[in-house]
Amino acid sequence: MIRHFLRDDDLSPAEQAEVLALAQDMKRDRFAASISRRPLDGPRTVAVLFDKPTLRTQVSFTTGIAELGGFPMVVDGNLAKIGVRESVADTARVLGRQVAAVVWRTYEQSRLEEMAEFAGVPVVNALTDQFHPCQLLADLLTITEHKPALAGLTVAFLGDSACNMSHSYLLAGATAGMHVRVSGPAGYEPDPDVLAKAQSLAQATGGSASYVLDPKEAVTGADVVATDTWVSMGKEDEAEQRFAPFQTYAVTDDLLAAAADDVAVLHCLPAYRGKEIAAEVIDGPRSLVWEEAENRLHAQKALLTWLIHHHGGER
Ligand code: NVA
Repeated sequence: MIRHFLRDDDLSPAEQAEVLALAQDMKRDRFAASISRRPLDGPRTVAVLFDKPTLRTQVSFTTGIAELGGFPMVVDGNLAKIGVRESVADTARVLGRQVAAVVWRTYEQSRLEEMAEFAGVPVVNALTDQFHPCQLLADLLTITEHKPALAGLTVAFLGDSACNMSHSYLLAGATAGMHVRVSGPAGYEPDPDVLAKAQSLAQATGGSASYVLDPKEAVTGADVVATDTWVSMGKEDEAEQRFAPFQTYAVTDDLLAAAADDVAVLHCLPAYRGKEIAAEVIDGPRSLVWEEAENRLHAQKALLTWLIHHHGGER
């Protein structure tokens, strides 16, 4: 059966652990030449489509696909105009006959779902308005490198709790058995369906998932504190109005005093120092953001290997 990675809970807890273990192996021996480490040898092509800006995602996917022996074909969404010049379904049918997988950064999750329905090859979410699951694989990989185990850890996500990163923290963290607290101002709460799904996942994994209004309460005792821009791509018109309500959610030394002594700080980048994160925090000793950025590469190589090698269908 062809498998896709459209949202974090597309991987079961066991599958998530499998992908993360593979990512650790691939990171340890990055340029291994064995066939199992080069599932795209041929080279086979992976289409990497962008309807929104990108740096880390383009670099990590293109580098990763090349290291897997494949050819990364970057498609500029401004030229392709998927859904405008032709439907998502027709685009999927064309791509699926030529490439081994489709990686897509776009707006609504429904566009990605339509791509997956018609492509006939694995489809990967490279960020939508609702989820950013590849980033969470990288974040979890980074945490495993610094903490004994994911299950049982407390992670606080501060900022826009309605954004893709918050939703992905809820689902991926709950899948991993973590205690996830997302915290942001009123009016920017997580999607209730996503929160409910995270809570039901957490029941099975021994974790928990909650929305916490008070940022201090959210970070109290936290092993990991993560944040993200207050103004996601596509929300630029709201930048001015967002600044005031988000102020108290900035990750500063003061706020981190309530967290665990060995708290690790994550940020998916791009970062705005002096807004969602203080310069002394992102550039300080508790910050793991550069490892986190590198781990996009290793996590996505593992994910693509898992999807294409084990669940890629006939083509
Ligand atoms: N929430 C951010 C994530 C950037 C990687 C955005 O969607 O712009």
